[in-house]
Amino acid sequence: MSKASNSFTCSVCGASYRKWAGKCEACGGWNTIVEEAPLSTGPKSLGAKGRTIPLSDLATEEPPPPRASSGIDELDRVLGGGLVPASAILVGGDPGIGKSTLLLQAAASFARKGLKCLYISGEEAAAQVRMRAQRLNLTDASVMLGAETNLRDILTTLDAERPQLAIIDSIQTMWLDSIEAAPGSVSQVRASAHELVTFAKRRGVAVILVGHVTKDGQIAGPRVVEHMVDTVLYFEGERGHQFRILRAVKNRFGPADEIGVFEMTGGGLAQVPNPSALFLANRDQPAPGSAVFAGIEGTRPVLTEIQALVAPSTLASPRRTVVGLDSGRVSTILAVLEARCGIPFTGLDVFLNVAGGLRVSEPASDLAVAGALLSAREDVAIPPDMVLFGEISLSGALRPVGQTENRLKEASKLGFSQATVPSHSKIEGATGLAVRQMPDLTAFVGEMFGA
Ligand code: TYD
Ligand code: MG
Repeated sequence: MSKASNSFTCSVCGASYRKWAGKCEACGGWNTIVEEAPLSTGPKSLGAKGRTIPLSDLATEEPPPPRASSGIDELDRVLGGGLVPASAILVGGDPGIGKSTLLLQAAASFARKGLKCLYISGEEAAAQVRMRAQRLNLTDASVMLGAETNLRDILTTLDAERPQLAIIDSIQTMWLDSIEAAPGSVSQVRASAHELVTFAKRRGVAVILVGHVTKDGQIAGPRVVEHMVDTVLYFEGERGHQFRILRAVKNRFGPADEIGVFEMTGGGLAQVPNPSALFLANRDQPAPGSAVFAGIEGTRPVLTEIQALVAPSTLASPRRTVVGLDSGRVSTILAVLEARCGIPFTGLDVFLNVAGGLRVSEPASDLAVAGALLSAREDVAIPPDMVLFGEISLSGALRPVGQTENRLKEASKLGFSQATVPSHSKIEGATGLAVRQMPDLTAFVGEMFGA
């Protein structure tokens, strides 16, 4: 029998390799691949027979227990309508973005709804967590606190306490004595997560694991445990902005791509029930380079402002600085503008930004991006009461996108009065907007900028 050899794993994205390499081909990280000891393969004898149930019998078993609502609507929505009992949830995010704050508030909120919650911090002493609770005005909440990193002790505590929700902050500080690796290493993080998830399923405890997003290979990132949990949420936001977005990237119990919007205030995170109004709040006079995109985030329409700046470049290869949008997609739009409409951006620096720190990934934003770019280049403002959306194909044609009516209704609700959308968009009822339908980008350029 050949001896089990060590394997190599990227600590940021979890990709595995047979040999060490300086660069991870999967995520592009440098120096992130670390060696892992082989998993023990265990005895070779056959195990005991497990239990199997015919699928048709499942209907006769008890219906699943109802989801628990936290009372924080933005959080419940991202969870797909509340917390599913015995589920495992991962909350990832950059250090300092507000994960601990969010989860302490969530724990207090669930506790107020009658759930037994246990918050285990591996990073802060119980007194420090209490100090945070004081700042958040939550000292009266009936949340049990623990400051512990040894997973065996934690599992014993969970077994004895039997909470309905356990929060582990963070998975990178947890360690199992059976594994000879430092806390935070890929093997410790994986094994700890596995133990906790198995425990959750077996004992009917919902667990929330906190994971710091890491940039180097010293500490394993949350992506190495994404496949083990039911729901993966990422808490995002720009450092300088007070807005925070909780985004579901995977959810076995609800729609992925759903977002919850929060604002970081002196007294913790506050919900933002109407994000469109907030992302558009700082718009003043009509300005060249600005276009309002009527987007859909998860199940909800959200309006955002796309801002562009185009300036003569002194560089041999001009700058393309893109924040909040996919830069590959922006390059495609620039190429289509040049090839199909004869509007080149050569010799020009291009800066694009989504106001408010939101990240827009929908192809429906293409038309608004093109609008912002053209408006900046031609120095002509788009009417401030107009929203745009539509996908641009490589031929320069505009393709209709889903949920046209929802987008238009949201725009109308927020006081917009015109919209520019692709031809053949599905609009049935009255939307309250003057809608202009465009077949392709050339028609759009002619109509808006007279070029
Ligand atoms: P924290 O929840 O500790 O982040 P994480 O757990 O993701 O590392 O949040 C840290 C930041 O939040 C810190 O910079 C201070 C800020 N903050 C507020 O602005 N208001 C508050 O009420 C709290 C508790 C934190
Ligand atoms: Mg923290």
